[in-house]
Amino acid sequence: MQSSDPLLISNDKAIQERLSLMVRETLSAIFNSFSDDSAFSGIGPYELRDRINALGFLPAKGKGFEKVLEETEKEILPHLLRTWSTKYMPHLHSPVLTETICSELIIACFNDSLDSWDQGPAATELEESMIHGLLALYGFPVEGGDGCITSGGSQSNISAIIAARDWYCMEKFNWDVKMNGLPPEYTKLRVYTSEISHFSMDKASHILGMGYNAVRKIPVDSRCRVDVKAFERMLEEDVAAGLYPYCAVATFGTTDFGSIDDAVSMRKLCDRYGMHLHADAAYGSGLIMSQKYKDRLSAISICDSITVDFHKMFLLPISCSAILMRNGEKLKCFELHADYLNREEDEEDGYINLVGKSMQTTRRFDALKVFMAFQTRGVDGYGEIIDKAVGNAMYFYSVIAKDPEFIAPVEPELSSVVFALNSGDEVNKKVRRQLLSEGTVIGQTVKDGKVMLKFTLLNPNLEHHQIDEVVERIRTLGRKIASEQ
Ligand SMILES: Cc1ncc(COP(=O)(O)O)c(C=O)c1O
Repeated sequence: MQSSDPLLISNDKAIQERLSLMVRETLSAIFNSFSDDSAFSGIGPYELRDRINALGFLPAKGKGFEKVLEETEKEILPHLLRTWSTKYMPHLHSPVLTETICSELIIACFNDSLDSWDQGPAATELEESMIHGLLALYGFPVEGGDGCITSGGSQSNISAIIAARDWYCMEKFNWDVKMNGLPPEYTKLRVYTSEISHFSMDKASHILGMGYNAVRKIPVDSRCRVDVKAFERMLEEDVAAGLYPYCAVATFGTTDFGSIDDAVSMRKLCDRYGMHLHADAAYGSGLIMSQKYKDRLSAISICDSITVDFHKMFLLPISCSAILMRNGEKLKCFELHADYLNREEDEEDGYINLVGKSMQTTRRFDALKVFMAFQTRGVDGYGEIIDKAVGNAMYFYSVIAKDPEFIAPVEPELSSVVFALNSGDEVNKKVRRQLLSEGTVIGQTVKDGKVMLKFTLLNPNLEHHQIDEVVERIRTLGRKIASEQ
């Protein structure tokens, strides 16, 4: 151990001084590691790999914090992705609000865990309180509803699908999946989701032992929303073929297009067939804060469960998401008691143990970030952030939709726009790679077999003239690359 590096936080003033200095030096290292507004250094993968591998793994003798910070500042920080840059727009991967950087410091210092009350008393109570607030915010009953903070949209989605499956098997076959595993009819269980929904549904079905084939992909209409007539036909045919539709997923903000499914029509069909309707609002959940666009989420409250992601439109550090359940009993699929952790007698006396609502055991105090951001920004501050993002997407779409060098097939409902130069797949691919090497990071996807580019606009500092500049750079690069082909 290096003598100057304190081992742990304590009430010793000298240690507190030293840690304060370490935090200040860390911030300086971060600020020293970049000097312009680019999102990335532009280094290529092979060079970066060599540099990272040269750092070594585990020295026989500790180097001490100063030395390690120096090496980290020199070799790692310059090549991290700078999410706060207005030139970063590829994914649903956000910059973070400054107050939540401070939340992360608090979370790391205390390291409370959300499995049992005695591992995080205030953490447990704050998460419960935030969950109650979220239930009300999204129109679910606070009495009777329930929820839990999760590691991300994927975990929230799988939690919903487990809950839906277990509930359906009990209702339909009087079968307790928790005790007995999958029912004999398990190969016939089906979940329905749009063909452009997030792949976490497929992953969930595989992890749950039912496989990708149990996920029925519903075609989408020209605006990239579930084709409700096609969904109805699929249900009729599948039931006639002896299959068991147990769950449907309405996406409130598809990953690429930000499109929002018609949950009202999907609800009617789910009721007809006794299915659970899950809202994957990992992307779109942020709209709740907007006065202008909030009505796009009006149908969310008629779903049975909701995925809310805070590390997307809400601009919180990874990881932070929530699963909300209209009928909290369904979340009991995760309840299990252990003598060493969450005794029932403690719970009877008010010591709630949140481990019973989660797939995880040890769990971060991410609810603090939601609390600090909500309190700092309020509805007004968050409303401006969300409106800026959606407004920027509408602006960008209006610019390229009338430009003959571009195609933009779907008008945005959220903050992402899929588009392409009309000079072919290879040009679009090369343009994206070239931009990456210049420190501007944009997305790439495929629509109707064609390579497309994508802007996912989450950054509230992004201004129209900066969007125009990227468009012009894409145009210039596209012409150059096309002329060289
Ligand atoms: C619609 C949708 N659902 C779920 C997810 C998964 O969320 P996470 O990456 O937080 O696991 C994403 C991620 O982009 C998404 O776009």
